[in-house]
Order: sequence, then structure tokens, then C-alpha cells
Amino acid sequence: MAPPTVLAKTSSLPRQQRRFLPPLHSPEHRRITASFPAELLQDFFGGADDAAHQPLEHSKKKPQEPEGSPTPVARQVSDETLVVHAGEKMGNGKSSTDSIATPVVSGTTHWFKNSEDLIAFKEGLRQSFEYGRYGNPTVKVLEDKVSSLEQAEATLVTSSGMNGIVATLLSLVPPGGHVVTTTDCYSEARVFIRDRMGKMGIRSTFIDIDEDMKSSLKDVLAKNDVTLFYADSPTNPMLKCLDISLVAELCHKKGALVCIDSTLAPPINQKPLTLGADVVLHSATKYMAGHHDVIAGCVSGSEALISKVRAWHQDIGGAISPNAAYMIIRGLKTMALRVEAQNRTALLMACVLECHPLVERVHYLGLESSPWNHVASRQMTGYGGLVSFEVKSDLRGTMRFIDALEIPFIATSLGGCESLVQQPAVMSFWGQSGEEKAKNGIKDNLVRFSFGIERFEDLRDDILQALEKI
Ligand SMILES: Cc1ncc(COP(=O)(O)O)c(C=O)c1O
Repeated sequence: MAPPTVLAKTSSLPRQQRRFLPPLHSPEHRRITASFPAELLQDFFGGADDAAHQPLEHSKKKPQEPEGSPTPVARQVSDETLVVHAGEKMGNGKSSTDSIATPVVSGTTHWFKNSEDLIAFKEGLRQSFEYGRYGNPTVKVLEDKVSSLEQAEATLVTSSGMNGIVATLLSLVPPGGHVVTTTDCYSEARVFIRDRMGKMGIRSTFIDIDEDMKSSLKDVLAKNDVTLFYADSPTNPMLKCLDISLVAELCHKKGALVCIDSTLAPPINQKPLTLGADVVLHSATKYMAGHHDVIAGCVSGSEALISKVRAWHQDIGGAISPNAAYMIIRGLKTMALRVEAQNRTALLMACVLECHPLVERVHYLGLESSPWNHVASRQMTGYGGLVSFEVKSDLRGTMRFIDALEIPFIATSLGGCESLVQQPAVMSFWGQSGEEKAKNGIKDNLVRFSFGIERFEDLRDDILQALEKI
């Protein structure tokens, strides 16, 4: 039973090269999820599937390794390693400090040695930075890290998720263009597409994510010259998901681009570009930053598309501060650990809730009762930390449940270390008509729970005691 240490296998390499951790030749190197020492040893030294990064459907099957195979299997550096190293020592190489932590370069402008040096920069012969709104070394490290996780050629980091959404839509859809989106995409993006882009002469069509979605999309693509298909997957708070490969195939046949807001599925759980999307964006405020302490967004895709988005973004002035970028770099280092804990807690809790007599319905992609479970299992590597459920009560009873909870904060947002809970009828739809709520599938008894990284048993006990109070 040889302990599979990566460093032992690479220790003959020069130090700098070791830090790159080239494709690992270690089939034993896998994500460890077990909480107990015996399971952990079992998982590490044998018996378990090499399940990390396999879509959930595949992770159920055990790959057969040829017995005693002497040939090492080349594999990609894992997400757990990329979140820590990508973009930093890796790929940068021009840092003027030995600090392990990426420096926060706070300067707003960069100087040139002389005019020839400036011309070399303008001609692209020398990589540097000019003015903080166009780019910054700390922000660039973050952009490279995200590109690496998304398997993208390029990434733009923005001052908020909404800023990234607006820059993407404005840059990729010209006046006279046509956007197709879904009825339950992020509400502010939906309003921007319908109202503001509508005033710019851009048409939009909204389709439902339901069993007829394929034919609705085919129909709208056949009857219109669609520029961009834009959608969240998974959706918030009803946790539906799109078949991204299918949507990309249909759209690409008709020359339309596909942009996925993957905020609810960070790259540990889903990589839409690998499924055929052209652009993926996130509110990095959520899982990526992960600590409820920084607002940011990111947009990734091909160099050609992201340079278009970047040009618009420079004009609308949505640069993120280097301090905020550093906080996300720091937050990302633990993203794999955090998200794995959140995936696990949410899945276990969804199962507990689904069997509870005081719970009417649970919305979670990891449950077989979810109509989107089979698609999610094919395209995701984890179902995420958000669970929505309907308690067997009315508005007031549900409020009593929320108020009886002791661990989570009553707050909007999701994806951070602290669990958050909210009742959408009160938090986001207070004062809106029943018709408006029904249109968005929001019932008075709906609870949206964003699981943090607290221990599962503590959260479970808290939820169970609060259910008794409805
Ligand atoms: C799915 C989704 N997309 C985009 C956004 C906007 O992100 P931000 O608040 O960082 O601007 C949010 C915010 O809640 C969101 O939930």
C-alpha cells in the first residue's frame, strides 16, 4: 500500500516546475470527502471510485483500471489544486516578490521606463498594465485563476455580477439583435433585458424551463434571427436546470451564442464552457468569494468574445478594486473544500426534509424527485448548497419556522460560509400581488436555505426543532 504523495513523484523536478504540478500521474490522487478516519483511509488507499470531476452520473460507476498497469494515466491538474495555485505562481512568472500570497497592487496607474518601453507595450511586445480601469496585476491573477477553473481562454472580473451581466449583454447583442432568455432567470437581468435593452431596439423572448422547452426554443430560433441565448442554470430559487449541451447544439445551428449564468453552480460543480456554452458568468459574490464580504462578478469564454466584453466594460467603468480581487483570490483557495461541504450538507438535508411530515415539497437537483435530476447528474459534479422547500403551513407559519431557526442568518445571498435562510414571499416578493408571485412560482410557504459550512448535524437539529414551531 504505497502512499500516493504527489511531491515524492515530482521531487526531482526543479522547484519552480514543481509548483506547476504538471498533469499528475497518480490515479490514487482523488477528492477526499469522507468525514471519518476509516472511510478516509479507504478512500485514499483503495476501493473508492476516482469520482472527482466526473459528472455525478458517471461517479456512480467504478472505472476498471488494468491490473498492475505500469503506464501512468496522464490527467488534468485537479480543481482542488487549481483553486490554490492557478494564475498565481503558475503562469505569472513575473512577480517581483517572493511572497506566497499574491500582492495587492493598489496603484491606479503604471509607469514606463521610456517611450520605447511604452511603444513596446502598445505593440503588445511587452506585457504590462497602463491604467487601473483597463487592468491590474492583482485582478489579472484572479482572472487567470478563474479561466483555469472554467477551462476558458479568457476571463473578465467585474465589480459585481450585475456589472458583468450588463457588460456581456451590451457587448454581444447589437441594436436590432434578439435575446432569448428564460422566465426565471435572475430577476434584475430579466428586467434589464426586457426593459432597458427593449428601449435600445433589442428584442427579447422569454421561454419556460419545462418539458416543452426544447420545442419552444426550436420554434423561437426558427422564427427569429436570435443573437444570444441567455439563462441561469441552475435557477434560483426553484432549482431547475437546463440541458446546456442540447441548448448549445440548437443555438449554434442557428448562429446564436449561448451565455450561462452559473452563479448557483461554481466551477467545482459545473463548467458550462465544457458543455458547449460560449460564455459563462457568475456573481462571484456568492460561492467564489464565499465569505459574504465582497461583491464581484466574472465572465469567461474565448479570447475573441471576452475582449468584446472587456471593451464595453472599460467604457462603463466597472473595474473591481485590487483589494476586492485579492479577497476573492483568497476565498477561492478554499472553494473546493467549501463547496464540497455545502454539496454534502445540502444533499443530506434535502433527503431528511423530503421525508419530513411537515414538509410538502423539496426542490433540489440531487433528489430523484426533481424533474431535472437526470440532466443535472449528467452535467454537474455536485448539486450545490441551495435547497428550497415548502413547509406544510401558510405565510405566518413559515415565518414562525424561519424565526425559530438559531444557526442561519435571515438574509438574502448564498454560497458563503454562514448558512442563510429566507422566505422569498417576504424577502423578495413582499407587497407583490399573488399573481406576480404565482408567475414566478413563489408560494407563501417556500423557504430558501443556503447551506454554509457549519456541521450538518447542527444544521439538521436546528431545522428539525424549528419545524416543530410552524
Ligand atoms: C443568479 C444570479 N446572477 C447574478 C446576480 C447578480 O450578482 P451581484 O449581486 O454580484 O451583482 C445574482 C445576485 O443575487 C444572482 O443570484
